[in-house]
Amino acid sequence: MKKLLYFTLLNSILSAQEWFITNFEYGKMLYHNPRGISCAKCHGENGEGKIIAKYYTIKNGKKIKEILKSPNIQNISYETLKSRLLLLEKKYKKLSVMPRYNYLTKNEIEAIYLYLQAQKDKK
Ligand code: HEC
Repeated sequence: MKKLLYFTLLNSILSAQEWFITNFEYGKMLYHNPRGISCAKCHGENGEGKIIAKYYTIKNGKKIKEILKSPNIQNISYETLKSRLLLLEKKYKKLSVMPRYNYLTKNEIEAIYLYLQAQKDKK
């Protein structure tokens, strides 16, 4: 009877493991789906940064080509990431094309950071 109990317990632990994901996978998932617009849409698949849009503006009657780029975020510190996402500094509170993600939890930001760190090591 005891043996059967252990066996059932062990079995449920083993199958439960399939439901757990690593912190890296969690970070990857959050980076692509942070309960808002995907970070990858603007910062690229691996946080390398990319051109978001090309457009023209008119200044003094002259047509000027403008490029909107997102920064590379592979080498930023955890503090910068947290501060940018939670809008902890005044400079981040100004209008930006980057949406607000200040609902992300500490755990979620840490997981995103881990994912970005791993992207840096890839190259
Ligand atoms: C709509 C485009 C867009 C999306 C989506 C977006 N960003 Fe950004 N992000 C930007 C732009 C543009 C900047 C530079 C200007 C600024 O800071 O607002 C930036 C700046 C940053 C910075 C500051 C970099 C530095 O060197 O100071 C971090 C960190 C960052 N983004 C992380 C993220 C993460 C993580 C996500 C997803 C949760 C995300 N961004 C989603 C466009 C975007």
